[in-house]
Amino acid sequence: MKALILSGGHGTRLRPLTYSQQKQLIPVANKPVLFYAIEDVIEAGIHDIGIIVGPNKEQVIEAVKSVDWEANIEFIYQGEPLGIAHAIKVAQYWIRDSDFVVYLGDNILREGIVKHLEHFKKGNFDASILLCEVPNPQRFGVAELSEDGKTIKRLIEKPKVPPSNLALVGIYFFKPIVFEAISHLKPSWRGELEITEAIQWLIDHGYRVGWTKVENWWKDTGKPEDILDANRLILDDIKKDIKVKTKAKIIGRVIVEEGTEIDENTVIKGPAIIGKNCKLRNAYIGPYTSIGDNCVIENTEIEDSVILEGTEIKCGGRIVESLIGRNVKILEQSNHPIGRRLVVGDNSQIVL
Ligand code: DAU
Repeated sequence: MKALILSGGHGTRLRPLTYSQQKQLIPVANKPVLFYAIEDVIEAGIHDIGIIVGPNKEQVIEAVKSVDWEANIEFIYQGEPLGIAHAIKVAQYWIRDSDFVVYLGDNILREGIVKHLEHFKKGNFDASILLCEVPNPQRFGVAELSEDGKTIKRLIEKPKVPPSNLALVGIYFFKPIVFEAISHLKPSWRGELEITEAIQWLIDHGYRVGWTKVENWWKDTGKPEDILDANRLILDDIKKDIKVKTKAKIIGRVIVEEGTEIDENTVIKGPAIIGKNCKLRNAYIGPYTSIGDNCVIENTEIEDSVILEGTEIKCGGRIVESLIGRNVKILEQSNHPIGRRLVVGDNSQIVL
C-alpha cells in the first residue's frame, strides 16, 4: 500500500496568503495542514508516501524535509494543476501496481484513516470513498446512494442542486484500475480531470466501489473561515503544556513553546497555543488562538484567531476571528494626521 498526498494547486481561495506560500503549508494549531495528512497515513501503517508538488514545490519539499518522518517520501512534480485525477496520472510511474490512498493535502480528518483503510482492504473493493454529512454540499463532490443506501449510484462534482448532503471527503482508496478509468476522462467545465468522474467510470463499468461514513469532524481548509474552524476543532483537543517560566495568568489548556517570554501583565485563556521565541507583553490571548513562532504581541487583545510566524502586533485594540500572515506588522498610531495607514497586499480583507 502506498499513499499519494496532493500538495499542488494554486489555492486561489486563500489569497493573499497563498501568493507567497503553498496553501497546504498554512498552519492550524501551529502545524502545517499537510502534516496532519502525513501523520494519518503513517498512523495507518503506510510508509511509502508520494507527495504531489506544484507551483511552490521548493517550499513544500523544505517543510516536509524539516521533519524526520517514519516514511520514505518521494516528491512528484505536477507541472500544471490540471485536476486531482491528473495528479494521480502524473504519479502512475511511482505507484505502479500498488493499491494506494489519495489524500488531499488541505483536508483534515479528526478520526484518521485507519478504519476506512480496513474497510477498503476487507471488502476487496476497486475503490472506496469517505462520505460526510455537510450543511453545504454544493461546495463539494456529492454522492447519491442506492435506495437501500448500500451502494453508490452517482457522484456529482459541486452540483447546483445536490441529490444528498453526503459530501465526498478528499480521501480515496484505489486499486490500480483507476488509471484505466482516468485514461478515459476529458477535462471538465473547470478544465480539470475530475476524480469524481474517474470513480463514476468505475461504477458505470461494474467495478466495486465501497464507501464509509465519517463519524467525527472533517474539514476542507479551502477558505480562511475553514482555517479558523479547523483551528478551533484542533485546539479543542490539546493538553496543557507550558515549557517556560512566567508569572503571567494562564487559564485552561494552553501550550507555550520554548524560548517564549510572557510578562506578568499578560493573560492567556485556553485553548490556545503560543509558538517558540515569542514576546508577549501586556497582552490578552483569548480562547481558540494560535500564535506562530517569533511573534511579538504588545498591548493588544487577540481571540479566536490564527497568527503566522514573525508577526508583530502592537495596536492597542482587540483582534477577533482573524487570519494574519507571516511577518505582518500591525502597529499603533503615534503621529498626525490621525487615520488608518494601510499597506495591504492584493485580495486582502480588512474589517475596521
Ligand atoms: O475536499 C474535498 C473535495 O476536494 C471533494 O469533495 C471534491 O469532490 C474534490 O474535487 C475536491 O474539491 P476541491 O475543489 O476542494 O479541490 P481543490 O481544487 O481545492 O484541490 C484539492 C487539493 O488537491 C488541494 O490541496 C490542491 C491539490 N491539487 C488540486 C489540483 C486541482 C493538486 O495538487 N493538483 C491539482 O491539479
